[in-house]
Amino acid sequence: MGTTLQIYLKENKSLRMKKILVTGGGGYIGSHTLVDLIEHGFEVISIDNFSRSYASSLDGVEEITGKKVKNYEIDLCNLRDLQAVFEQNKDIEGIIHFAAYKSVPESVEKPLLYYRNNMDSLFNILDCCRQFSVNNFVFSSSCSVYGNPDKLPVTESTPLKKAECAYAATKQMGEMVLEDTANNLNINSIALRYFNPVGAHTSSLIGERSIDKPNNLLPIITQTAAGILDKVTVFGSDYDTRDGSCIRDYIHVMDIAHAHTKALQYLLAEVKKPFYQVLNLGSGNGISVLEIIKSFEKVSGEKLNYELGPRRAGDVIAVYADNAKAKSTLQWELKQDTDSMLQTAWAWQKTLLNK
Ligand code: WQD
Repeated sequence: MGTTLQIYLKENKSLRMKKILVTGGGGYIGSHTLVDLIEHGFEVISIDNFSRSYASSLDGVEEITGKKVKNYEIDLCNLRDLQAVFEQNKDIEGIIHFAAYKSVPESVEKPLLYYRNNMDSLFNILDCCRQFSVNNFVFSSSCSVYGNPDKLPVTESTPLKKAECAYAATKQMGEMVLEDTANNLNINSIALRYFNPVGAHTSSLIGERSIDKPNNLLPIITQTAAGILDKVTVFGSDYDTRDGSCIRDYIHVMDIAHAHTKALQYLLAEVKKPFYQVLNLGSGNGISVLEIIKSFEKVSGEKLNYELGPRRAGDVIAVYADNAKAKSTLQWELKQDTDSMLQTAWAWQKTLLNK
């Protein structure tokens, strides 16, 4: 039967903390988003099989927030296991779907692995949205859907070019599936196109941590500075950019995380009608690989060993965001600058050295 308070809260849905399911909660952006959601009054549960993340990330979330996050260690590609989670949590009011493989070079090498994992997991979670009437959905998309854009900065209406790799293709297809099923599933959904998430929580209790050798630039830079790797290879210095190296839009992971909280608040407040929206989550600043290396040396005081090397297959030459729509739709403001991205990434790396 439950206590008077439990009965009261059950009858007054609006007073109860809204429960959000975060898939990939043990991951880099997932763990930072759990922190932000908890700090903004949400009840959260996670699904993560730790195939590409660390269970210790959830310990970091608990240390920062004081809340232990319930995690279901299942594979999202197993529909029966996923349905069991929804059976045990009939009060889920929104979903943030992070769980996916996300390495550009790995997806070039193993495309089928990426199509199967990233799409099967999405299909299963959407099936559960319909079966259990969950109709607020935030999808982890990517600036890689733009391919090599003709015009910069990219807005949400910039035409999508051919995906440069299977990872990007799974994000393009994911967006199409959401757009085509919003009415049928009666879900309000937002696809957040991340640019390049970097940095770590200011507490240095959570941050980016890959299971094996990292592919992304920032962890390779910090591991080189820490002496774990012997050098950074700049993948291409003959591109048609101001210094010949690729240009990206780096954005602090804490700003990305907060945008998810804002997106959920927007969806939950929205008049219930099925809709689908896309928003760019970028800082709006295009920075080259060589410029990031120089900035890191300035911020950390460490001299980086780097060399100019050949281009990497699947790379986009230059991409950075027009983030006006996300700022206005979500009332979202960025709080962290490039120095903070680099400083927190380095502080986190030094913490990892002591783990
Ligand atoms: C950045 C730049 C490399 C390593 C990322 C995520 C992907 C998606 C889009 C969110 C590129 C160069 C890298 C190195 C280098 N994000 N580089 N030497 O490929 O832009 O993709 O953002 O969905 O999930 O992975 O990021 O960090 O791999 O590369 O020169 O050792 O750094 O060529 O220009 P990328 P990245």
